[in-house]
Amino acid sequence: MEYVIEMLGIRKQFGDFVANDDITLQLQKGEIHALLGENGAGKSTLMNVLFGLYQPEAGQIKVNGKEVQITDPNKANELGIGMVHQHFMLVENFTVTENIILGSEPTKMGLINIRKAAKKVKALSEQYGLNVDPYAKIEDISVGMQQRVEILKTLYRGAEMLIFDEPTASLTPQEIEELIQIMKRLIAEGKSIILITHKLKEIMEVSDRVTIIRKGKGIGTVTTAETNPDQLAEMMVGRQVVFKTEKTPAHPKEVILQVENLTVTDNRNIERVKNLNLSVRAGEIVGIAGIDGNGQSELIEAITGLRKVSSGKVTLKGKDLTNLKPRKITETGVGHIPQDRHKHGLVLDYPISYNIALQTYYQKPISKAGIIDYKKVNKLAEAIIEEYDVRTPSPSTEARALSGGNQQKAIIGREVNRDPELLIAALPTRGLDVGAIEFIHRRLIEQRDKGKAVLLISFELDEVMNVSDSIAVIHDGSIIDTVKPQETTEQKLGLLMAGQSLHAEQDKVGDE
Ligand SMILES: Nc1ncnc2c1ncn2[C@@H]1O[C@H](COP(=O)(O)OP(=O)(O)OP(=O)(O)O)[C@@H](O)[C@H]1O
Ligand SMILES: [Mg+2]
Repeated sequence: MEYVIEMLGIRKQFGDFVANDDITLQLQKGEIHALLGENGAGKSTLMNVLFGLYQPEAGQIKVNGKEVQITDPNKANELGIGMVHQHFMLVENFTVTENIILGSEPTKMGLINIRKAAKKVKALSEQYGLNVDPYAKIEDISVGMQQRVEILKTLYRGAEMLIFDEPTASLTPQEIEELIQIMKRLIAEGKSIILITHKLKEIMEVSDRVTIIRKGKGIGTVTTAETNPDQLAEMMVGRQVVFKTEKTPAHPKEVILQVENLTVTDNRNIERVKNLNLSVRAGEIVGIAGIDGNGQSELIEAITGLRKVSSGKVTLKGKDLTNLKPRKITETGVGHIPQDRHKHGLVLDYPISYNIALQTYYQKPISKAGIIDYKKVNKLAEAIIEEYDVRTPSPSTEARALSGGNQQKAIIGREVNRDPELLIAALPTRGLDVGAIEFIHRRLIEQRDKGKAVLLISFELDEVMNVSDSIAVIHDGSIIDTVKPQETTEQKLGLLMAGQSLHAEQDKVGDE
């Protein structure tokens, strides 16, 4: 067997904490090798070791059969290893080409010929079917396109082995399909890929083999054709996982959230929410289904006070919340799991314990007469870390050092624990492993059963169908229909999301 990369017996510690304990991963030439494991299992850490960002305490790395020391990312590039990070590292107001040549070797004279570089970018883009305009500005292109720029960057530097760390977490279903085609193209052109994803469907669709790790230890490597999602989930979590959460019918009571004729504009002053009406009752979960960019973000930001409302009204139990400050809205009884956890969810430089107390530290019982009782902060943090299975070396660890999924679990724990009248969950399970998704879905349903109102925004149709009691379809800034999950299908929902009214279709059929 020809291995292009071998990581043998890798150990990586942070202080006393062992993030990778004797892990082995072997990448064959021309394969897509999935790396699967729970949140905090040590996947990103292992890939950061391979990319030269961390030095392992023990173990060996071989590239094309030869032992190497990957001292830094430049060394990784030299060896033909490229990495596409989950959070892109692009300069917004630079062009595609400028971003790609940034930091790469200058020419002999110390000059970079932009036109020559753009030509090479265009050629690579065509070779791999990436469809990227070398002169487009980053700020003007979609997230999916930005990711392709990151891919081009690695190819420009001559990458033969590509690492993708959760590349599909921030993509729309359409973009995911395109990325899968791109990965297949890369393989056809002779590259090899390591792919991290929590989506078992994607693993089954594109990978050749899967290496599973659990709590920093290697569990094994299996051939995709010889396994199935249930087995993968069990290997990774160590128990069986239920993919569909059981729930009893909802018993909605009084209206909690009422949104009336709401209009909201984005940063460029374009109307994104248009005269929108929506209500959520106590004891029900309303799911908002829609294609990304149809006003979901602006709607949530307007309800939570992060964005100004142009016209219309938002009330909570009859109390007017329109254009109040976010803190005031929080105090009135709104919990918010934000779409962008780094921007609105966490202070990354603070310990995770402070982050867990972020909404409550100044109130009783944590604060008295303006003095914060840090013992109580820690106690609260410890309780939530325990209950929500937030895997962290300690409560005082900086939020930044937690794995992506564990940051998310900490935010969910903080918001649900406050027991708000209205819980807004925007893409709550983004980046979570299958076990954690099951747990979070149960918590959302539990809030509902306690008589709270829950508003769920998700791009995953199966999540919307599984968890919601009622689905509001958003299109072009308005709710165009409301349906019950048991009375629709993913196909019908898909049509509605694309702006086609089913009633209109039926009417037409009736006329004929
Ligand atoms: N710089 C660091 N300092 C301290 N601990 C760290 C650091 N980086 C990672 N860890 C810890 O190592 C463990 C593994 O983290 P890692 O990011 O590798 O997980 P992951 O498998 O990528 O998870 P996810 O699926 O949530 O992204 C986590 O418990 C994390 O808190
Ligand atoms: Mg990770």
